[in-house]
Amino acid sequence: MATAAAGGRRRRVLFFPLPYQGHINPMFQLAGLLHARGFSITVFHARFNAPDASAHPAYDFVSVPDDGMPADSPDTVQATMDHILAVNRACEAPFRERLAALLERQRARAEDVACLVADSHLLTLLGVARGLGVPTLALRMGSAACFRCLTAFPMLCDKGYLPVQESSQLDAPVVELPPYRICDLPSSAAAHGQLREVLSRVVTAVTTSSGLILDTFDALEADELAALRRNLAVPVFDVGPLHKLSPAASSSLLRQDRGCLDWLDGQPPASVLYVSFGSLASVSASDLVETAWGIANSGRPFLWVLRPGLVRGAPPSSISLPDGFDAATRGRGVVVSWAPQEEVLAHPAVGGFWTHCGWNSTLEGVCAGVPMLCRPFFGDQMGNARYVDHVWRTGVTIDGELQRGKVEAAISTLMGAGEPGAGMRRRALELKNSAAASIGEAGSSSVNVDMLVSLIQSM
Ligand code: UDX
Repeated sequence: MATAAAGGRRRRVLFFPLPYQGHINPMFQLAGLLHARGFSITVFHARFNAPDASAHPAYDFVSVPDDGMPADSPDTVQATMDHILAVNRACEAPFRERLAALLERQRARAEDVACLVADSHLLTLLGVARGLGVPTLALRMGSAACFRCLTAFPMLCDKGYLPVQESSQLDAPVVELPPYRICDLPSSAAAHGQLREVLSRVVTAVTTSSGLILDTFDALEADELAALRRNLAVPVFDVGPLHKLSPAASSSLLRQDRGCLDWLDGQPPASVLYVSFGSLASVSASDLVETAWGIANSGRPFLWVLRPGLVRGAPPSSISLPDGFDAATRGRGVVVSWAPQEEVLAHPAVGGFWTHCGWNSTLEGVCAGVPMLCRPFFGDQMGNARYVDHVWRTGVTIDGELQRGKVEAAISTLMGAGEPGAGMRRRALELKNSAAASIGEAGSSSVNVDMLVSLIQSM
C-alpha cells in the first residue's frame, strides 16, 4: 500500500471543494482517504456553505472570503452557472493571498505541500495554485460518461444537438455518444452560452492539471473510462465509490435526522421506498401534490426527504403536504427534512430509491444494491438516469409530466414481485457486488488509489 511516508517526508495535500453538498461530500471522502495514507490535510473553502471544521479535528481549515457571492443556493442551470463563476471570481484574490501565506509558513516546517486537489469547476483557483508553483489535480464530480459528454460539448453544438430546442426530437439518439439521447444531454436554451463556457472551463481545468480524479469504478463504466484514457493526455484515477472507501466523518451541511433509522428497523426487508431529490433540485407545488398521491396510492411504506426549500414558492421551513395525505398514509411512512442517506440506502428495509439522479445519490444507490426510480431535473442527472434504466437496467425513469398514476405504476414496477422489478433487483445486487470488489484488495479502485498516492508522493 502506498503511503505519504514512502519518501520519508511528511506531505500536505490542499483541498478546495465547490461549496455544494454534492461536491463537498466526495472531496471530504477523498481527503479522508489521503489522510489515512499519512498525508496532512488543509481544506480551503468559501464562506458560502462552509464545512463544519469541528467534525474534522485532524485537518486545517482556511476560510476564503467570497464577497459578492449570491447568498442563496442556486436551483436552476442558469443560477448554478452564475454561482460557479461567482465563486471563482470572488475567491481568486483572497485564495492567492492565503495560499502564498501558507506556502511561506510551510517553508519553515519539516513539511511541504504536495499539491492542490480542487473541484473541476474551480478553474481560476487551480490556476492560482499553479501560478504559485503548486501542482494540481482536478476532482470531477460526476460520472466518466458525463465528463466524456463535456469533452464532446463543442462537437454536439456544432452538429446541432445542442442547445436542445422545443423542435428537437428528444428521444433521437446522439449517434456520436451512445447511449445518450438528445433529452439526456446537459442543456439550457436560456443560458446556452454560459453553460458552454462553464463546461469548457471544466475540461480546461482537467487538461491543465496533472490528473483527473473520478468518483466511479471500472466495472460500472469500463468503456467510458477507456475512452477518456484514450483521449486525455492526463492520467485518470477512478477511485470510487469514495463513500465506501473512505473513513471520512460526515460532511453534511444539514442536520441529519437519525430517528428514521429506528423507524426503518421496524419495517420488513426491502419493503420501504426511500424518496430524496438531493440538495439543489426544487419542485413545483403541483409536482409535490402528484408525488405525494403517487406515494400514498402505491400502498408501500416510505421514507421521504422534504428538504427546506424543496418546493418553489413555499416558505423554506414549512412544506405542507396535501389534505388527506396524512390520513391516507398513517403508520406507513415517515417524512424528514434531511436523512443520513448512505445509512438509509444500506438499511435492509429499503427496497427502492426514488432519486433525482445526482451522481452521489446514483452511486450510493448502486453501492447499496437498491433499484431506482429516476426523475432527473437538470445537468448530468438525465444522463445518469439513462445509465440506470438503459445500461445497468437497475431502475425505471418517469418521463414527461409528473402524474400520480405514473408514479404509482413506476413504484409498482420497481418494487412489485415478478418481472421486470425482479430483474432490476438482481442486476442491482450484481452491481453492488462489483462495487465492493472494486475497493477490495487488488480491486480496480484500490489499485488506482495506490497510483494516485504514488503520484502525489512524487509531486
Ligand atoms: C449536485 C448536482 O445536482 C448533481 O447533479 C451532481 O451530480 C452533483 O452535484 P445534488 O443535487 O446535491 O448534487 O445531488 P447528489 O449528487 O445526489 O448529492 C447529494 C448528497 O447529499 C448525497 O451524498 C446524499 O447522500 C446526501 N444527502 C441527500 C443526505 O445526506 N441526506 C439527504 O436527505 C439527502
